Amino acid sequence: MRSSIVAACGLLAMGVSAGSAVANACIAPNCMNDAAANQVANNFGQLISAYTPAAADAYLTTDFTDYSDGVSTLINSGCPNGPATLGAATFTSRDAFKAGQGSQPNITFNLLNVWHNCNTVTLRWRGPMPNPFPGAPDPQTPVVGLIVLETQFNGYANAQPFLIKTVYSEFNSGSWLYDLNVFKPNCTAASKRAVPAAAFEDGHSPLSQ
Ligand SMILES: *[C@@H]1O[C@H](CO)[C@@H](O)[C@H](O)[C@H]1NC(C)=O
Ligand SMILES: *[C@@H]1O[C@H](CO)[C@@H](O)[C@H](O)[C@H]1NC(C)=O
Repeated sequence: MRSSIVAACGLLAMGVSAGSAVANACIAPNCMNDAAANQVANNFGQLISAYTPAAADAYLTTDFTDYSDGVSTLINSGCPNGPATLGAATFTSRDAFKAGQGSQPNITFNLLNVWHNCNTVTLRWRGPMPNPFPGAPDPQTPVVGLIVLETQFNGYANAQPFLIKTVYSEFNSGSWLYDLNVFKPNCTAASKRAVPAAAFEDGHSPLSQ
C-alpha cells in the first residue's frame, strides 16, 4: 500500500506544483501544507486580535490545552503565586480558554513568521502596542512572542482541516507588565544580565561562553 502511494505520487509530482494539497499528500497522508499552516497561525492570531466564542469553537479542539507561563505571569500580575501556577498548564480545556480570553481586550497581533511540519505550526508574532489604556506608559513597549501549535487533523472537507489542540506560547511578559503599569522599572539601576553561571539550572551561563 505504502509503495503504491509513493509510486502514484511520483507520477503526480511531475504535473502538480509543489505545495498543493495533492503534492503535499505525497509526503505523508494528512500532512499540512503551507496554506493550511498559515490558516492555523492566522486562526490563533484571530483569537488574540478579534476574539469571539464562535471562533474559539471553530478553531480549537474541546480538549484544548494552553501552556504559557507568559500568560500565567500576567494572570498573577507578575507575582510568584496567584491564581495561575507557573510551569503548569494555563488553560486545560477550550471552555477554560474561552472564560480567560473572552474577558480580555483584543490586541494587535502581527504575524512575523510561520514554520510548520505535518501537524505542528510554529509562529513568531509581535504586538506593537498591547495595552493602550488611558494612563498607560507612553510610548508602550512592543511585545514579541513565539508559539508552537500542535494540531489535530479534522478532514480536508472541513472549513478547518486542522484544529489547534495544544499551545506552547511564551512572550515578553516583562514588557507587557511594564505597559500595564504593573512593573515599575528602575531605569538608572545597573543591568542585572550578568547572572553568575551557578544561577542557571545546567550551570552554564549563556553570557560566560
Ligand atoms: C474583539 O473583536 C471581536 C471581533 O471583532 C468582537 O466581536 C469583540 O467584541 C471584541 N472584544 C472586545 C473585548 O472588544
Ligand atoms: C535605582 O537604582 C539606582 C542605582 O542602583 C539607585 O541609586 C536608586 O536608588 C534606585 N532608585 C529607586 C527608586 O529605587
